[in-house]
Amino acid sequence: MSATDERLSARSAEIAADEMPVLLERTAGSKALYERAVKSMPGGVASSFQVGDPYPVYLSRGQGAQVWDHDGNEYYDFHNGFGTMAVGHAHPVVTEAITKAASNGAHFAVTVETTVALAEELCRRFAVDQVRFCNSGTESNMSAIRVARAATGRDVIAKIEGSYHGHVDQLMYSVLPGADDMGGRDMPVATPKSKGVPAGMADWIRVVRFNDADALEALFQAEGDKIAALIMEPVMMNIGIVLPQPGYLEKVRELCTQYGVVLIFDEVKCGGTIAPGGAQERFGVKPDLATWAKSIGGGTAIGAFGGRAEVMEEINRGAAHQGTYNGNPLSVAASLATLTKVLTPEAYEHLGRLGTRLASGLQQSVDEFDLPAHTVDLGSKGCISYRKEPLTNYRDFLETNIDIYAASYPWMVNRGVFMTPGDEEQWTISVQHDDEHIDRYVDAFAGFAAELAK
Ligand SMILES: Cc1ncc(COP(=O)(O)O)c(C=O)c1O
Repeated sequence: MSATDERLSARSAEIAADEMPVLLERTAGSKALYERAVKSMPGGVASSFQVGDPYPVYLSRGQGAQVWDHDGNEYYDFHNGFGTMAVGHAHPVVTEAITKAASNGAHFAVTVETTVALAEELCRRFAVDQVRFCNSGTESNMSAIRVARAATGRDVIAKIEGSYHGHVDQLMYSVLPGADDMGGRDMPVATPKSKGVPAGMADWIRVVRFNDADALEALFQAEGDKIAALIMEPVMMNIGIVLPQPGYLEKVRELCTQYGVVLIFDEVKCGGTIAPGGAQERFGVKPDLATWAKSIGGGTAIGAFGGRAEVMEEINRGAAHQGTYNGNPLSVAASLATLTKVLTPEAYEHLGRLGTRLASGLQQSVDEFDLPAHTVDLGSKGCISYRKEPLTNYRDFLETNIDIYAASYPWMVNRGVFMTPGDEEQWTISVQHDDEHIDRYVDAFAGFAAELAK
């Protein structure tokens, strides 16, 4: 660690020591709810992503760009449900669509016309031939992999080191691995992320670094005939944001075609947020299959995957894809309204303008106080990472200063800016955010940066 980082880590610890008691004082209701919740749910939460130390801040409602916690404290929301809420909270168009669908019967497990209309919209928007529905990002990826294996008759899956694609056994490898168990610089190993994953699963996984087409080529040269699919986020969004370097995605595309490997873009996070047509549109590279969830649902539980007809047709040739709740009328109505009426081309202009206002506002403080940090601006999504140079892969992320992030969390929350709990995340701006909300974030961060520099 450099002398600057050591100084900033020490200063961060002081800030956190001042801010945490304030946060705990303001959220006594959350503490009480946690004490109740922990008796009926491990960690007191519905998903382990929601745990907090010493307890999570529980929310009770949201409206527009704002949320209120269990104690009634008000925040501008930049967490936005890990990126699901690009529409903002209780958007009237989405609320109306859900209400209307609910009054017509919540579920039939039979396809309704809205599902067909949504399939058509996804095909149009993301330029794919066919789609199928499920209920989450995990399921979308799991299903895309089944189809890719069926299409190729191969079993092995290649993935990018550090990436998260859902909590299914076969993909819970090398997700934020520890520095000690991730393998040598040129030889990432498949490290299980969770207990309870069968040991033999690792035989079906290969891991490569992001932005390293040479490593991918070497892997395909050695084992291309065994590899069914490469699954990747075209822009990494589980370690802040890591952009693909110029030419990288094009080379990946070329290699997958050459070796007959199905290229799967996991657009669960980026699909609805960074451009109307997601990463495919933004970076101009087309996968064989893509997966979506989160923001396409306007806050409802939905996932989808789709791509070239000849690959998707495997579902008609024996690749099982099922699910009682697939195409649930409430979710598809919310999603159709979200995609056709809320996340319009104009909405992406608004998100892009606000994103740039936020990222450049934070960057100004970074520059003024010469912090070891950089910002990334990508439409509704963006982040600040505590390393001077932009990140190119997961190993760079391990060099970020986590102590600064840890101090920034209570600082921002105490000033009414609701953040994602974890430096691997990023902000999401909604269509209901405006300049005032962005400026609150920028001002609160300016105060934090000044305090750090003291
Ligand atoms: C890139 C990516 N893929 C897949 C998933 C899994 O989605 P879900 O939590 O809806 O199962 C996530 C969740 O954070 C994700 O970020």
